[in-house]
Amino acid sequence: MPEERLVLSERAGHVATLTLNRPQVLNALSPALIDELIAALAACDADDEVRAIVLTGGPRVFAAGADIKAMAEASPVEMLTRRNIERWSRIAATRKPIVAAVCGYALGGGCELAMMCDVIVAAETAQFGQPEINIGIIPGAGGTQRLTRALGPYRAMELILTGAMLSAPEAHQHGLVNRLTPPEACIPEAQRLASLIAERPPLAVQLAKEAVRAAAETTLREGMAIELRNFYLLFDTADQKEGMRAFIEKRKAEFRGR
Ligand code: CAA
Repeated sequence: MPEERLVLSERAGHVATLTLNRPQVLNALSPALIDELIAALAACDADDEVRAIVLTGGPRVFAAGADIKAMAEASPVEMLTRRNIERWSRIAATRKPIVAAVCGYALGGGCELAMMCDVIVAAETAQFGQPEINIGIIPGAGGTQRLTRALGPYRAMELILTGAMLSAPEAHQHGLVNRLTPPEACIPEAQRLASLIAERPPLAVQLAKEAVRAAAETTLREGMAIELRNFYLLFDTADQKEGMRAFIEKRKAEFRGR
């Protein structure tokens, strides 16, 4: 029997949808699953036909965190030498925009994975949280940093110290979630948003993503420098000429990602 894929990949138009596929353990993020996800995202980055990505855990769950069974008995040296968590940074380094479709639990590494995405669509019944404190650790894949930037220091501190969950409506109210949907509409809405982004000139989209990310990851001075470099760079693209000429000629632009 062929081995079951841990990340399923399909494409419709210019949108790739990646689905985490360990539903029996609520998509616990094992090292093998993370490796498949990194490979799938790299393949999307390399494929000119893909302009935006939807990342989902399917209709019932996003991911319930790093695989506790895979690390329960690990020593610090094993954790360090496996570099399991460091490898996750390659997910955040994806050049193309990622829309998360969070239809259920996004906990621990699952919440961190959602926060590595660029836009978050959530089902009204979804739950976010960093419950690591309940099992004797703290978030290790960016939770203390990204949740704090998303929610502010006091809300993030409470969630991380208590391990409590944040409902999707609360997450929406506090800016962690872009759009709330009925459960069955979560993945289609994420795909709709992704196709809207995919209609835009792809290189401008990627350079805009890099510049917006810089706002959270660097100083104002560095972020401004990245923005300006990317702004000037886009004048060397065929899509910039096409976009501006189409505007002047009052027609719809046809972007080619060049
Ligand atoms: N790792 C491994 N297995 C997990 C898992 C995880 N993170 N989360 C759930 N599972 C497994 C369960 O062991 C169970 O498997 P079995 O049927 O073989 O027993 C199966 O998924 C279903 O889970 P539950 O029976 O627990 O389902 P539930 O509906 O009663 O509870 C839940 C759901 C509240 C999400 C609960 O599963 C839970 O608390 N999960 C752990 C959440 C967590 O602590 N995440 C943080 C992990 S550490 C981390 O992520 C570190 C980091 O920063 C990178």
